[in-house]
Amino acid sequence: MTKIPHKLYLTEDQMPQKWFNLRSVMKDQPDPMLHSGTLQPVTEADLAPIFCAELAQQELDCTHEFIDIPEPVLDIYKMYRPSPIIRAYDLEKALGTPARIYYKYEGNNTSGSHKLNSAVPQAYYAKQQGLSGVTTETGAGQWGTALSVACAYFNLSCDVYMVKCSYEQKPFRKAMMNVFGASVVPSPSMTTEVGRKILAENPGTTGSLGCAISEAVEAAVTGGDKRYVLGSVLNQVLLHQSIIGLESKLALEQLGEYPDIVVGCAGGGSNLGGLIAPFMADKIRGVKNPRIVAVEPASCPSFTRGKYAYDFCDTGKVTPLARMYTLGSGFIPAPNHAGGLRYHGMSPILSKLYHDGYMEAVSYQQTQVFEAAVFFAKHETILPAPESAHAIKGAMDEALKCKETGEEKSILFGLTGTGFFDMTAYENYLSGKMTDYVPTDADLQKGFDSLPDIPQNKNI
Ligand SMILES: Cc1ncc(COP(=O)(O)O)c(C=O)c1O
Repeated sequence: MTKIPHKLYLTEDQMPQKWFNLRSVMKDQPDPMLHSGTLQPVTEADLAPIFCAELAQQELDCTHEFIDIPEPVLDIYKMYRPSPIIRAYDLEKALGTPARIYYKYEGNNTSGSHKLNSAVPQAYYAKQQGLSGVTTETGAGQWGTALSVACAYFNLSCDVYMVKCSYEQKPFRKAMMNVFGASVVPSPSMTTEVGRKILAENPGTTGSLGCAISEAVEAAVTGGDKRYVLGSVLNQVLLHQSIIGLESKLALEQLGEYPDIVVGCAGGGSNLGGLIAPFMADKIRGVKNPRIVAVEPASCPSFTRGKYAYDFCDTGKVTPLARMYTLGSGFIPAPNHAGGLRYHGMSPILSKLYHDGYMEAVSYQQTQVFEAAVFFAKHETILPAPESAHAIKGAMDEALKCKETGEEKSILFGLTGTGFFDMTAYENYLSGKMTDYVPTDADLQKGFDSLPDIPQNKNI
C-alpha cells in the first residue's frame, strides 16, 4: 500500500463548484423558524428587512440538493482554497494510537478561520443587491475579521459589534478589522437602544453573542440600505460551509479513506455542519455509518445540557424564533477563552439531527482543552484557535480509546482556525491562571426561565 502523504491539497479545478444543502436529504425537517409576533413560519418577505434577498431564499430552501457557488465567490475561494487535509502522523505517534487521524485545516487564510467561507458569499450577495453595507456581531473576532476582509474586497461598509470580553482580551483583532475598514464597537454598547437596555439591566456584563446579535440587527434595520449578516447558526451559513465537508470527502477518497468518526467543535454549528454535511448525508441515506461528534465548552453546554425548544437567536429578543438546543437567550456564559463557542443556541439543522440520534455531543472544560491545544501545537506545529482545540481534544480522546481497544479507526476533525490572536489565553493557561467554570443547574435554570412562553414550548 502506498504511504499516505502528510498533506493533500486538491487542485483548484477539483474544488467543488456547488454548495451542498444537507436539509434536502433529511428525512425529517428541522422545525420552521417562526415569526415572533404571529408564531407562524417565517416567509422570505418577513426576512427581507433583516437579510439580503438571496440569503433569505437560501435560508428557507430545503429542496435543492446543490446550489451553484457564484463565479465571483469561486474566484475569491480560489485565493485560499482548497484547504489541506493533513494526516496527523506526529500526533498519532505521540498518543501511541493505532487510529489514523486527519484534520481539515481552515486557518490558512488571512482572516485565520473557516468563517471566510460564508463571509465571502454574504458580502457578495449584499453587493449584488446594491446595499451600502452590512452589520454583524462577532464573538472571538474571527467572524468579524472574515467579514471585514470580504467587505473590503466588495467595497461595502462593515459595522461589527464585538462581545465585550473578547474585545478586551484581543485588541489586535479589532486592529485587524480596522485595517480592512470595518468599524468595531464593544457590545453591549450605548450606540443602540437594545444595548442601552441590556446595560441598564446588567451594568457589569461582559457581553455575549446573543447581545451582540441584537445590537447588530437593530443597527441594520435602522441603518438604511444595510442588512444584517450572521456568521453561524443559520441554515444559509451551514450551506456555505459545506465546502469544507465536500473537499474533505473528495480528498479522503483520493487517499482511499472514509472516516469512522468525524469530530468538530460546536459554537453555533457552522463549521461542524459544513464538515459533516456529505458524511451525514451518507448516514441518513444508509450508505455509511460514521459516528459524528460535536464538542462544546462545559461553560456553554447547549447540546449536552440545553433544552430543545423554540428560542430567540439573540438576547434582546428581536430575531425570529428558532427551534434548537438552547440555554435560553438570557443565558450569559462565563467569559472563557473560546469566545466563538459562547453562544446560547445551536444550529436548528444540527439540533434536529442530534435530537433524532444522528450525532453525539461531549463537553470539556477550558483547561483540558488548552492542554490538548499545547500538546497538538508541539506535535503538529500549528497553533490552534481555542475553539478549534475543542475538536482536537475530542479527536485525541477518540484516538486514545482506539489505543485501549486496539482499533485502527480513521478519525477526521475540523481544525477551524489559528490561535495567533489568542496569546493572552495561552499565557493565562501556561501561567496556571486559567480557571474552569461549569454552570450549576440553578445557573442554567435562569437561562431556561428566559425561554419564550409559547404553546410550541409547552412540553419541553
Ligand atoms: C476558530 C473558530 N472555530 C469555531 C468557531 C465556532 O463557530 P461555529 O460553531 O459556527 O463553527 C468559531 C467562532 O467564532 C471560531 O472562531
